[in-house]
Amino acid sequence: MAVDTLEQAESSTLSLDVEAVRRDFPILSRTVHGKPIVYLDNAATSQTPIPVIDTIRRYYLEENSNVHRGVHFLSQVATEKYEAARRRIATFLNSPVGCEVIFTRGTTDGINLVAQTYGRQHVGAGDEVLVSHLEHHSNIVPWQMLCEEKGARLRVIPINDRGEIIMESLDGLLTGKTKILALAHVSNALGTVNPVKEIIARAHERDIPVLLDGAQSAPHMPIDLKDLGADFFACSGHKMYGPTGIGILHGRAKVLNAMPPYQGGGDMIMSVSFEKTTFNSLPYKFEAGTPNIEGVIALGAAVDYLEHLGMDNIAAHERDLVAYATEALREVKGLTIIGTAKAKAGVISFVMESAHPHDIGQILDDEGVAIRVGHHCAQPVMARFGIPATARASFAAYNTRDEIDALVRALHKVNEVFG
Ligand code: ALA
Repeated sequence: MAVDTLEQAESSTLSLDVEAVRRDFPILSRTVHGKPIVYLDNAATSQTPIPVIDTIRRYYLEENSNVHRGVHFLSQVATEKYEAARRRIATFLNSPVGCEVIFTRGTTDGINLVAQTYGRQHVGAGDEVLVSHLEHHSNIVPWQMLCEEKGARLRVIPINDRGEIIMESLDGLLTGKTKILALAHVSNALGTVNPVKEIIARAHERDIPVLLDGAQSAPHMPIDLKDLGADFFACSGHKMYGPTGIGILHGRAKVLNAMPPYQGGGDMIMSVSFEKTTFNSLPYKFEAGTPNIEGVIALGAAVDYLEHLGMDNIAAHERDLVAYATEALREVKGLTIIGTAKAKAGVISFVMESAHPHDIGQILDDEGVAIRVGHHCAQPVMARFGIPATARASFAAYNTRDEIDALVRALHKVNEVFG
């Protein structure tokens, strides 16, 4: 993901017809406070294209029924579409086996599932769980809760002043006590792309399984789980042009089979009596209760849409936007970018001398520019840089250089008001 020059980024971004992409997202043509919306909060939630909206509409108009339960026509249609989406998503992640895809509520739910099943089974008193200093709270707190329950220790891979993992520290932290490494693929707060393939290989040399938090990578770059070798991978539909409340946990079948179930209920059982319950096979063992059927089918459509644009094209376009924005923001007096890793995905976090991030967010909103301000659910990252909060612009396939120019104009206004 590293980009050395703006020219390099420009030359690799030609295959995406961004104006055509924008036409697929009707919300981008609305106004906010009388100004055209400039939506730069994609790391929080991406917008939804017409094919995904149409899929949801069609589901309720023509297909709505429960899955895996009915012999009637609608139930069979819903089941077929639900399972087709699972196979589609497995292909998207380059995982050969559909049963390794478990549907969750989102990344947070997927990580909690692993902490509460694999974690409770394998982590004991005196053991260690390893995370990095770049993690979102959702990849810290579930492990902290587990460690507290088990008398285990949460250890942290440090980062440098650019917001990159200090690779030299890994050898001392991956030890016989480490029961799992839980790591962000891409930092939501800074955009750092971690060298996960190398880190996973180093953990595996010591038989330590790795969970990747893919919330900020799955929407922005090709994901090849066969190549990466992650034992678990979690991501969220609402950051991938899909709906909210649906996510994916991918796990290797051998590992998932050996794990206890997460929640009990319908669909996750083979047979139930008051004496004994036997659990269903994968992936149903981890999908108790009626699932988010519409969400799964729409997520399948979102994945189709991502692949229609091409993940390499999306990655190249967003690299261009990061390089362009990094240059353009230099013009803004008193602005400092936080997170200057060589490998960065479409996130730019910054602070300004003249204004607190919340004031920046307010002025930008008046100008129609939507960014996120605050600690981004990554307070340890903020603490590492000695700041309470940043302002964060985050990009998607439909963003343009013109929108970055609008961001820069709005930031000049911040200086005018507060400077
Ligand atoms: N995790 C999301 C973000 O970074 C909500 O904004």
